[in-house]
Order: sequence, then C-alpha cells, then structure tokens
Amino acid sequence: MKKDKLTIKAKKEGYRARSVYKFFAINKKYALVRKNDKVLDLGCWPGSWIQALKKLDAVIVGVDITKIQEIPGTIFIQGDITSKQTQIGIKKYAPFDAVLSDLAPKTTGIREIDQQKCLDLSLTALEIAITCLRKNGNFLCKIFQNSDQEIIMQKARKKFHFTKLTKPQESKKHSKEMYLVCRGMK
Ligand SMILES: C[S@@+](CC[C@H](N)C(=O)[O-])C[C@H]1O[C@@H](n2cnc3c(N)ncnc32)[C@H](O)[C@@H]1O
Repeated sequence: MKKDKLTIKAKKEGYRARSVYKFFAINKKYALVRKNDKVLDLGCWPGSWIQALKKLDAVIVGVDITKIQEIPGTIFIQGDITSKQTQIGIKKYAPFDAVLSDLAPKTTGIREIDQQKCLDLSLTALEIAITCLRKNGNFLCKIFQNSDQEIIMQKARKKFHFTKLTKPQESKKHSKEMYLVCRGMK
C-alpha cells in the first residue's frame, strides 16, 4: 500500500507514528498540555505522543496493552485500562495535569459490536480522567463518530468547563475518528 505523506514525514522526523501530528495540531489550538506538565497517555503504543510530550518536558506515564520500545525518562505500564489492576497502577501516579486517550479497540468488522467497544473504551478513559486529574486538569479523548457520541459528550460536559469535538486535518479523511477536547475539570 502507498504510504501517505504524514507517515513518510513521521519516519523522516524520527516519530514512531503519523498520529503525532494530530496531537501537535490539537495541542497547538487548545493548549491541553503545557511545559513540565504531568501527563497520562492512555493507549500510548507505539509512543509517538510520548515523543511529542517529551518535547514539552512533561512527566509522562504511558499505558498500553502492547509493550512499547522504551523511551528513557518515561514510565510505562503494560496493561488493559479496563482492568482494576491497571487502574490501581495508574492511580499511584495521580494527580495528572492532563490525561490523553488515543485508545482504539481491536475491531471485529461487526458494526454494533465495534461501536459498543469504542464507546466502552472512551467511557473508561473518561472515568480514569475524572479520578486521576487534578482540579482544572485537561482531557483529550479519541472517539468514533456515531450515534453514541452524545453519551460521552453529555458526561464530559457535566465534568469540564469547556468541551469541544474536533477533527484535525491530520486525521484521514474517510476515518470516523474525532477528538473530544475537555478543559478545566470542575
Ligand atoms: C492508535 S494507537 C495509539 C497511538 C499512539 N497515540 C501514538 O501516537 O503512538 C491505539 C492504542 O490503543 C491500545 N489499546 C486499545 N485498547 C486498549 C485497552 N483496553 N487498554 C490499553 N490499551 C489499549 C492499542 O493497543 C493501541 O496501541
């Protein structure tokens, strides 16, 4: 398959994935992570967002089911974010200034099942953010555009002063992914 421009650019600039440019674009616009912040990165493999966060001198805790190739100076927890054990491991490092979730479940191809998996994952990410963020902390969450999106939006609106759905130009045109930007936890 032909590699797209951003994949080639990421490789050239030493980033592990093209998704790094989505983070750069969103963070430039919404300033969710600032210099020296303590950040939780949910679904961090292969680690391009961690690479971006390092540029901000952030203190980083990354979590993923898949083990990442180590990035010196960062903490990595290998585990499923829906498991109690992983959640206990994460809480040890709380509170965070920002929680980021680029989580994407393994899909089955069956629309109803995949839609439910996506919603469950983003709701779990939101719950983790609510329990682990400091007051006024920020949350960024990948969600998939479908009829369920209002469920997480409504929950997020109750907990954050500012919420907005955004689709960075860097997301693939045909992709249903969107990012939920939440600023200032109440
Ligand atoms: C799109 S990738 C993240 C890319 C990353 N932001 C980067 O730029 O390098 C999504 C990740 O979510 C992880 N994931 C999916 N479900 C998970 C779960 N329940 N617990 C932990 N990680 C999960 C996958 O293993 C995958 O690595």
